Amino acid sequence: IPLHLPWIDAINKLKKQRGAVIMAHSYQSPEIFHGVADITGDSLGLAQAAASCDADLIVLCGVHFMAETAKILAPHKTVLIPDREAGCSLASSITAADVRALRAQHPGAPVVSYANTSAAVKAESDAICTSANAVQVVEAMGAPKVIFLPDEFLGRHIAKQTQVEIVLWHGRCEVHERFTAQEVRHVREQFGTKVVAHPECSPEVLAEADFVGSTTAMGKWLAREKPARVAMVTECSMADNLKSQFPQTEFIKPCNLCPHMQRITLQNIYASLRDLRHAIEIPDDVSARARAALERMLAIGR
Ligand code: 13P
Ligand code: SF4
Repeated sequence: IPLHLPWIDAINKLKKQRGAVIMAHSYQSPEIFHGVADITGDSLGLAQAAASCDADLIVLCGVHFMAETAKILAPHKTVLIPDREAGCSLASSITAADVRALRAQHPGAPVVSYANTSAAVKAESDAICTSANAVQVVEAMGAPKVIFLPDEFLGRHIAKQTQVEIVLWHGRCEVHERFTAQEVRHVREQFGTKVVAHPECSPEVLAEADFVGSTTAMGKWLAREKPARVAMVTECSMADNLKSQFPQTEFIKPCNLCPHMQRITLQNIYASLRDLRHAIEIPDDVSARARAALERMLAIGR
């Protein structure tokens, strides 16, 4: 962080002048997460914060779908993303037309979409969920069969925990699908470590984990269990951000970096605040339909 101090100071000054709030996802690098963010969290936490935030300007340090979610829930505020190209392999795995085709194949089955989707896909959905509340949202549909998209692995993880029949899509997180059960077993045997994993990992990897949960839930688990050693089977920044909070715990690799999350830097956050770029805009009709689906999720909570 010392190297970053001039940028951190400049951003914090400009942020005050602008009356802006900076929100950062758990996968943002430590200089952003600890240095400039006012609010940090998992994607559910950031959505809840956007819905209740009273600043007129939000800078969302995360990926594009997270900034869209903030804009949908705070339509009269300006929501900026420092790099528009910060995408997500899950969000780009499915279009609104794909959702309509799935509905035609499974008439009457409600659609629950993972937050990692575009605004257009959210607009075609009955409800949104995140990894923090997926089972609760699926069950709240009150239907025997639910279309869950786009994350196949999260869908399989939900299916294990409910009687509801889950229709899957074939989306994958390009970061979490890279972990293998063999590498997790190897780390556990070599280091005698506990293993926590994000549910975007394959079922074989999740079967090796002591705990599976959203980015915030993983942090809470660490606070509760205080393991001497832990492997965080998720994006690398997550462990980097937690290290200072849990100095007694040794964090063991493996981890993979999300190239989209890493597009956000102190430099482009500064430019974003200075030039008020890049503002998220969503057509009103799409935004209104997507908001209804997101509000169903917020009513359910965590
Ligand atoms: P969370 O909902 O756990 O924050 O995860 C979002 C994400 O993109 C994980 O890869
Ligand atoms: Fe998308 Fe995976 Fe990156 Fe999360 S880690 S933003 S799911 S590509």
